Amino acid sequence: MRRIANTQQAEAWNGPEGVHWADNADSFDMLNSGFNDALFEAAAIGAHDRVLDVGCGTGQTTRLAARRAASGQAVGLDISAPMVERARAVTAAEGIANAVFEQGDAQVHPFPSGHYDVAVSRGGVMFFTDHTVAFTNIGRALRPGGRLAFICPQMPSPDGDSARVFAPVNALLAQPSPAQRGMMSLSDPARVREVLTAAGFAGVTVTSVEGPVNWGRNADEAVDFYFTMGPVRHNLEKKPEETVREARDRVRAALRPYETPDGVRLRGAVWLAAATRP
Ligand SMILES: C[S@@+](CC[C@H](N)C(=O)[O-])C[C@H]1O[C@@H](n2cnc3c(N)ncnc32)[C@H](O)[C@@H]1O
Repeated sequence: MRRIANTQQAEAWNGPEGVHWADNADSFDMLNSGFNDALFEAAAIGAHDRVLDVGCGTGQTTRLAARRAASGQAVGLDISAPMVERARAVTAAEGIANAVFEQGDAQVHPFPSGHYDVAVSRGGVMFFTDHTVAFTNIGRALRPGGRLAFICPQMPSPDGDSARVFAPVNALLAQPSPAQRGMMSLSDPARVREVLTAAGFAGVTVTSVEGPVNWGRNADEAVDFYFTMGPVRHNLEKKPEETVREARDRVRAALRPYETPDGVRLRGAVWLAAATRP
């Protein structure tokens, strides 16, 4: 039987927000892929490595890891059935044979002990009721000398691009949506160091990485995507139509100056954490 400690997260990511993410995987990948290079540089995956991707979602980073570990294997673990289903379908369509996916809760998943050379995560390690227990479990899955590299969100800077562009909506986002709870749990680098050290990792570093956050091909597409996202929908569904329409118009106008031939690109920043298992 599958072990689950994070029952609220399991419910949330197997509910409408997980389904929405899985159905819009390309948009979410476009949004988050500006930090892939930094993540993979820190992970330093070798051709023969066994890689674990924690909270792999629809598996873009698992597939990228599998390509780097051409003679090894990448395993993506995620608590969400719709995300794992989508990850498997895309991976099969792309003909990547050395990437596999499992559904499970990383906090308590019975990973094979000392099996992996490296564990990575693009924003999939914030959603734990007990971070120390979860990272201890992930650490146990790594061989001695194995590496951990992940990225997680920073608190948005009040004068950053996102704060400016989404200001008309930010004022209305009072409640975190179910899947969003925990999202900012590692936004303090001191907390990341504390948790990883308590979980037995050594050589912990946490660095700020800036990159483009791509919201879509143009401002119209970007505003459509933004207003269907779980946290926004969750807060706006009971607001008067006129309020929502006005907020949409203001966000669309604020996004226009960021349109480029490569999409609507805002500057963003994440924390990149790296550590090793002694
Ligand atoms: C913000 S999304 C990131 C997904 C993916 N890494 C990406 O970059 O597209 C967070 C992911 O973590 C997964 N997740 C949340 N809690 C988890 C847990 N306890 N164990 C495993 N996966 C979890 C969610 O289902 C979701 O796919």
